[in-house]
Amino acid sequence: MKQRKIANSLVGEIGLGCMGMSWAYGSPDDEESLKVLSRALELGVNHWDTADLYGAGENEKLLSHALKSVRDQVFLATKFGNVYDRSLTSHQDLVASQAGWIVDGTPEYVRKSIDLSLSRLQVDYVDLYYQHRVDDRVPIEETVGAMAELVKSGKVKALGLSEASVETIRRAHAVHPIAAVQSEFSLWTRDYHDDVIPLCKELGIAFVPYSPLGRGFLTGQIKSVNDLADNDWRRMSPRFEEENLRKNLQIVDIVTEIAADHEAKPAQIALAWVLSQGEHLTPIPGTKRLKYLEENAASSEVTLTEKEIALLSSVVPAAGMRYPEGSMSFVNR
Ligand SMILES: NC(=O)c1ccc[n+]([C@@H]2O[C@H](COP(=O)([O-])OP(=O)(O)OC[C@H]3O[C@@H](n4cnc5c(N)ncnc54)[C@H](OP(=O)(O)O)[C@@H]3O)[C@@H](O)[C@H]2O)c1
Repeated sequence: MKQRKIANSLVGEIGLGCMGMSWAYGSPDDEESLKVLSRALELGVNHWDTADLYGAGENEKLLSHALKSVRDQVFLATKFGNVYDRSLTSHQDLVASQAGWIVDGTPEYVRKSIDLSLSRLQVDYVDLYYQHRVDDRVPIEETVGAMAELVKSGKVKALGLSEASVETIRRAHAVHPIAAVQSEFSLWTRDYHDDVIPLCKELGIAFVPYSPLGRGFLTGQIKSVNDLADNDWRRMSPRFEEENLRKNLQIVDIVTEIAADHEAKPAQIALAWVLSQGEHLTPIPGTKRLKYLEENAASSEVTLTEKEIALLSSVVPAAGMRYPEGSMSFVNR
């Protein structure tokens, strides 16, 4: 596995998103997920991404089992700020988002949430601690100031922001170096291509594309909303509404054609394109299956031609918003 840098650490250029092991995409299978985590390290996939939100803490607890004997081999990232448990927050008056959570970026909440994450993960520190969504009721300087204290106390090695705007990143970076910005980016989600991604390059910040497989859509495995379980989160996403989904299949057709030329899987082409968008990009495809983990890791070996990159870059923007309207108000803040 080729490597790239986040802060001062070298990580496999393909990371592992762990959210779907506990949440959002079908039923969890902890036994298989633990096998995935163990195999990931053998493949050089050492950048693991979780959050306190995923399964309301269950995903961090799952990772604790895998981390026991290999903690020092893993670059471990978690996140705070999306709150399910209202007893933990001072923002009692906020209306919950469609997904059920509210956002809290107060210093008091930052201090509480890291201790809860460390205890669920059963580790002494995390390598990267992200604010999951920017809290527009708290100046970013205050939130990042509190996060910087966690670096001083050794609970956290480096700081990150998720779905932050250009202005927020600049202001945060002036308080304490920001090591990584994690936001949605893939063939069908280009929102940050022209502003945040170049800004990260300029400031020496890693950009961590989440949902780089378009939440599974770009792999060609989802042809209809009926391919998703009844409780699957994607049923709430406008992009997976039947009419939009049908239009978006045009993107998958192009990916599938290029994959055939490389004798590769569409997922590998989608990831190779993300990797081609800059040396500071370290995507974190999510999976709970060994087969997919191995395919995704092998995308590090796929090299696209300039012509293929240009063709993929020219695909039409996706039909439908990437989140339901209520959740869209929390991104690019
Ligand atoms: N910061 C944020 O706000 C935020 C938001 C969303 C996600 N994330 C992070 O980003 C990570 C990745 O994003 P994501 O999981 O939403 O989306 P993704 O990586 O674009 O896609 C995951 C989906 O693709 C499927 N898949 C993975 N590899 C495949 C392959 N080779 N062939 C066919 N299907 C494949 C998975 O199936 P299985 O589930 O069956 O394995 C899963 O349904 C998450 O795990 C999480 O850590 C962060």
